[in-house]
Amino acid sequence: MTTFANRPLIHSLTPASEADDASYLDFVEGVRVFNQQQVQGGFKERYAQAVAEFEQVYGRPPSTLEDAHAMLDRIPLFASRSRLWRSTQEMMWEQIRQTYRKREPELLAELDRADRSGPGSVHWDPNFQYPQYILDHEIHLQPGSYHADPLAGYIYHYGTKIFFTPTIGNQDDDDNQRQMVNAMPLPVDGQVRRVLDLACSIGQSTTAWKERLPQAEVWGIDIAAPMVRYCHKRAVDLGLDVHFAQMAAEDLKFPENSFDLVYSYILFHELPVPVIREVLRQVHRVLRPGGIFLINDFAGKTMAEGRMWSSSVAQPSAAPADRTGDPLQLWLLDFITKHNGEPFAWDYCHLDMHAELRAAGFPTSRHFDTGRQIVIEATK
Ligand SMILES: C[S@@+](CC[C@H](N)C(=O)[O-])C[C@H]1O[C@@H](n2cnc3c(N)ncnc32)[C@H](O)[C@@H]1O
Repeated sequence: MTTFANRPLIHSLTPASEADDASYLDFVEGVRVFNQQQVQGGFKERYAQAVAEFEQVYGRPPSTLEDAHAMLDRIPLFASRSRLWRSTQEMMWEQIRQTYRKREPELLAELDRADRSGPGSVHWDPNFQYPQYILDHEIHLQPGSYHADPLAGYIYHYGTKIFFTPTIGNQDDDDNQRQMVNAMPLPVDGQVRRVLDLACSIGQSTTAWKERLPQAEVWGIDIAAPMVRYCHKRAVDLGLDVHFAQMAAEDLKFPENSFDLVYSYILFHELPVPVIREVLRQVHRVLRPGGIFLINDFAGKTMAEGRMWSSSVAQPSAAPADRTGDPLQLWLLDFITKHNGEPFAWDYCHLDMHAELRAAGFPTSRHFDTGRQIVIEATK
């Protein structure tokens, strides 16, 4: 595992930026690592003590979110973790935006050039109407979210190098997405002519699918124009023949039965429940019979036995597993829902996705553990 002592300096991973920008971000990353490893690392013991104190006062174990707040909010260790998380998130985006703003004309020209280059293609619409739920909040506190800043692809990519630290590691070489894609099953008949990567963001999973299945036609769609433009620029740089299009996952413009495999990595916890339901119906429509849909996201309450089910990264539970409401897990999920610009995460994690898939027309679904992620597989 990367530790504060052995982690590489962030500026060694990034495109050229000025040393003062890079050192600021290096500091922010260091505080985040400290927060995750040292502050959150101390949760287990202090949490057990807090539960014992709660039981003494109330004569019962804590079991609800309200109990979790009553028990944890007053403890400096837990309050510090929340404050540090939010502040470092805000500091990170602010500095990354400032860094890239200085190079805006050059980067916009780079995107324009890539738009007209191959291999592969990109389609986006400058007049695209974003749905209200996209406009209403700033995801992960990123100013302008994925859609409103023309440099959002660059900014988000740089941000992932910091906010995935230290659990996932280097985002420059696409290793995280590649390892996950390579761990995914294929349809049982082995036929994969067309792959769709839903909500492809900066396209790391999309290009990983093309690397894994070079003969397949691979598409990545995302609702945000700056993201698909950046995806295509990356794919052109990598020389990979992949197609990207700006499209809402709940309004797919592909014909029915046109994909063998649809994949989504950390999309669903960012969607309101009615939109989730529409996306599932759309995926069912575009998949061919026997095709599979792979959902790689927060594990959710119905499938994360003994895990931090609000985390997309497998880690041992800090508290005894209680699927009906582990207060620490409720507390952590409530935090990201309210304070990390992920307002739909709580509802997603409380959905029974197997029941939702059934309602969308999928006859079978299962979930499995890749060792680092719990993934849902549905077959049409
Ligand atoms: C966390 S990122 C996804 C990461 C990406 N799948 C990967 O492999 O790295 C979430 C993405 O979902 C996109 N998104 C959000 N709502 C969407 C929707 N309704 N339809 C399509 N894309 C959407 C966002 O623009 C953003 O790029």
